[in-house]
Amino acid sequence: MNRLDGHRILVTGAASGIGQATVLRLLAEGAAVVGADIAPDGLEKTRLKAQEAGADARLTALLMDVGDESSVVDGVKSALKTLDGLDSVVNAAGILRAAHTHEMSLAAWNQILTVNLTGTFLVVREALPALLRNSRSAIVNFSSTSATFAHPYMAAYAASKGGIQAMTHALALEYGRQGLRAVCVAPGSIKSGITDTTGGYLPSDSDWSLFGRLTPILPTSLEASGAGMADPSVVAGVVAMLVSDDGAFISGTEIRIDGGTHA
Ligand SMILES: NC(=O)c1ccc[n+]([C@@H]2O[C@H](COP(=O)([O-])OP(=O)(O)OC[C@H]3O[C@@H](n4cnc5c(N)ncnc54)[C@H](O)[C@@H]3O)[C@@H](O)[C@H]2O)c1
Repeated sequence: MNRLDGHRILVTGAASGIGQATVLRLLAEGAAVVGADIAPDGLEKTRLKAQEAGADARLTALLMDVGDESSVVDGVKSALKTLDGLDSVVNAAGILRAAHTHEMSLAAWNQILTVNLTGTFLVVREALPALLRNSRSAIVNFSSTSATFAHPYMAAYAASKGGIQAMTHALALEYGRQGLRAVCVAPGSIKSGITDTTGGYLPSDSDWSLFGRLTPILPTSLEASGAGMADPSVVAGVVAMLVSDDGAFISGTEIRIDGGTHA
């Protein structure tokens, strides 16, 4: 008996990194999953990995832009139809852009807030009626260590993640009596599309000494290369626990998964 047999789960950001690893972990534990993303190539890679694991029959790929209201309305409706209901939502879709705050354009600020914060809200709003039809359901939102610990040049990203944390606490109280749990994970130093490309977004005159506090204390899979990044599966396993009955008494909080960086 798998822990997530019979669970129906929508995962955004399913084409890469932590979202992809989460899809594969949820499938491995028995869930039926709709994996949504804006990146069709990445979604196909996720499908191939699921196929290698013999679990692709329980995975449906969905093209959905979480920053676009009509795309989310249509996408969640399609996911509900595919899964015939919904037990959990995992909002992993996100983007990171970095800049000196005094040089950040309003367009860049709005883009980050739209995808990360408003996108999470839109998916939650559209999924809530279906989630509340169950006596037990869960929302796992993606915060970041940047929501509570200083990360240079990432004011917009940090603000979006802080907003997600605050929204998640509100959801936990508002719907808790109806059996809905709302939890955040707050990853840090996980190898993914975001961390592979962060360097390219940082200002060319970045003060690298400001990043000295952002190093895990635990050994990571890529320590030998000096990258100090962990595999996305370290987050996926925590998400699987949170949507399962093992997380039944966890709500309105965040779980930091950063190798002890901010211990
Ligand atoms: N990697 C880390 O160390 C780290 C740390 C803190 C938080 N996070 C969060 O983890 C989540 C997953 O990111 P990741 O690190 O795996 O990066 P990633 O870039 O590998 O994955 C992000 C995914 O989100 C998708 N996406 C972006 N915009 C979208 C949109 N508008 N609609 C739908 N999908 C969209 C991308 O196509 C991509 O597949 C993000 O919310 C990120 O902020 C990651």
